[in-house]
Amino acid sequence: MSKSLENEHLMHENKVLPPANWAANHPSKPSLASFEEYEELYRHSINDPEAFFGEQARKELSWSRDFDLVKYPKTGFNASWFLNGQLNACYNCVDRHAFANPDKPAIIYEADEPNEGSIITYSELLAKVSQLAQVLVSLGVRKGDTVAVYLPMIPEAVITILAITRIGAIHSVVFAGFSSGALRDRINNADSKIVITADESKRGGKIIETKKIVDEALKEAPQVKNVIVVKRTGNRHVPFNANGRDLWYHDEIVKFKTYFPPTPVNSEDPLFLLYTSGSTGKPKGIQHCTAGYLLGALLTTKYTFDVNPNDILFTAGDIGWITGHTYVIYGPLLNGATTVVFEGTPAYPNFSRYWKIVEQHRVTQFYVAPTALRLLKKAGDKFIEGHDLSSLRSLGSVGEPIAPEIWEWYNEKIGQGRCTIQDTYWQTETGSIVITPLAGITPTKPGSASLPFFGIDVAILDPTTGKELQGNNVEGVLAIKQAWPSVTRSIWGDFGRFNETYFKPYPGYFFTGDGGARDKDGFYWVLGRVDDVVNVSGHRLSTAEIEAAIIENPLVAENAVVGYSHDLTGQAIASFVALKNKNLSGTQVEDAKKQIILGVRKEIGPFAAPKVIFIVDDLPKTRSGKIMRRILRKILAGEEDQLGDTSTLSNPPIVQHLIDAVKSSK
Ligand code: WT7
Repeated sequence: MSKSLENEHLMHENKVLPPANWAANHPSKPSLASFEEYEELYRHSINDPEAFFGEQARKELSWSRDFDLVKYPKTGFNASWFLNGQLNACYNCVDRHAFANPDKPAIIYEADEPNEGSIITYSELLAKVSQLAQVLVSLGVRKGDTVAVYLPMIPEAVITILAITRIGAIHSVVFAGFSSGALRDRINNADSKIVITADESKRGGKIIETKKIVDEALKEAPQVKNVIVVKRTGNRHVPFNANGRDLWYHDEIVKFKTYFPPTPVNSEDPLFLLYTSGSTGKPKGIQHCTAGYLLGALLTTKYTFDVNPNDILFTAGDIGWITGHTYVIYGPLLNGATTVVFEGTPAYPNFSRYWKIVEQHRVTQFYVAPTALRLLKKAGDKFIEGHDLSSLRSLGSVGEPIAPEIWEWYNEKIGQGRCTIQDTYWQTETGSIVITPLAGITPTKPGSASLPFFGIDVAILDPTTGKELQGNNVEGVLAIKQAWPSVTRSIWGDFGRFNETYFKPYPGYFFTGDGGARDKDGFYWVLGRVDDVVNVSGHRLSTAEIEAAIIENPLVAENAVVGYSHDLTGQAIASFVALKNKNLSGTQVEDAKKQIILGVRKEIGPFAAPKVIFIVDDLPKTRSGKIMRRILRKILAGEEDQLGDTSTLSNPPIVQHLIDAVKSSK
């Protein structure tokens, strides 16, 4: 029986077919010939995942030892893939393409300042990863060790990540926007002994003192033996520990020859950790394995965006997040294509920057978060005019819902009738895209991520009973029914929490944490998180983690953090704070707010700072003392007439007080 859709107004759209002449100026041949071919392959991938993925893995990846069995056990999520197979990630990304096409550009580095970039060919990349791999070995890094990476978007970031995988070590990239406290926690959780960083970073014309942040973090990470420092600016005095701990990247690599053989690892050996936020305060080190992850990255890049070896993919996401891992580095390089590594921002030196890059490098696929598109739409179309965007075939969107009017703008102004839009839904945990229209193939509806990728069996569950809702026109929570190769294998060092988080809420399913619906045509709509995760400018933040940072402030008695919808950033952070001293003066209160913001910037990073802070007398709590954040969310949304059941509140008059506090600040 189908349940009525609360969000039906969103889903009135009819399907739009890809432009008829989409493949007309295709440089070779699209990856798939028709929508029917997708449907057929999809059915095969679900009915016989072992046959489908076994064949793809042998065809697309290079193995130093073939696998005996595609998947074991056959059912359930605790599965291993490609058993007894051996391969190396760096070999698959670099060597095999360097042997075939040594002079082909692997990386187009677009520096923060236009015209300061460079191009790195596959053979140059092979030389650089070989040299750095030997530096790491010389410092004692061995297969299975973790190496922390805290780098801006420069070619050395890609080289570093690949060099780590070349020796079978595990990279743990920490987004360079994180503060020293957050960096320290991640280095310690992963027990990394080596950190690779830069002297300084440049972004949007500004300088960030990266090495200083690392030094601060390392005050409480005594196991770190060495820091390898890339000279990015070289233009100021940068702190450098000369008694052997700190080493200049450029001084070290030249000590080694330009070829060093890769170390084969087992299919299931960890490839990397990437920390992400969950419902609790403690970040989770999402662990991905080698073969399954690589296959997911390769296939989704090839089929979602129709990436061919001669294509130039520009993913405008940071290597500090999963989008950068999978679609700046692994996906494009595994396919032997060219990837654009962009150091800057869409607004520097002006709002034409992306379109200049597309024009100059003849970019064929462009992939970005809607938050940037909202900014660019608002800046005005004059920044697009005069730029030749005719090389583009596919436009991707990632990380948050794309509103239909932004989708239309992207399609018309950037796509100009020649492209298709790929609204890709996935997560750090899924490793690669799980729901998306395929370029030039799948009909689209603005705002819908459309249909599942190969091997992804999507289920919409009733949130309370956990029962799967069958048929179309259903809404509930989004889950996945069977294992696929690139799903995360664990939370680093905490397999128990891994099972708790993803498999316990709805036994038999992988739980995404998102609400979702399947409309009348069987298209999927992602309806936002149902847990305490907030998405600000495509950054995934845990409200619990921000609350923990705020409570550190000695002035604060209690606090609650919730997300609210925001025009530019999608969601923004609001913090409700009860101070210990209720009798502070106006200026003292303003001062306290400033300190709270500074505290969050220091504990987590500037991107997690609350946009608004409400100083209140008390928080809405149940009799057992649990904060009812739902009430705060409703009041912020101006839906105070829809608070739902408030009978369990221990302090009912607080509701009016909170409404007044929010209203008076508007
Ligand atoms: C969360 C995952 C996907 C890689 C970058 C973010 C939200 C992601 C979409 C989309 C609506 C989306 C979900 C998801 N999300 N893509 N196309 N439409 N929401 O990865 O940091 O792990 O965040 O981003 O809420 O759970 P992440």
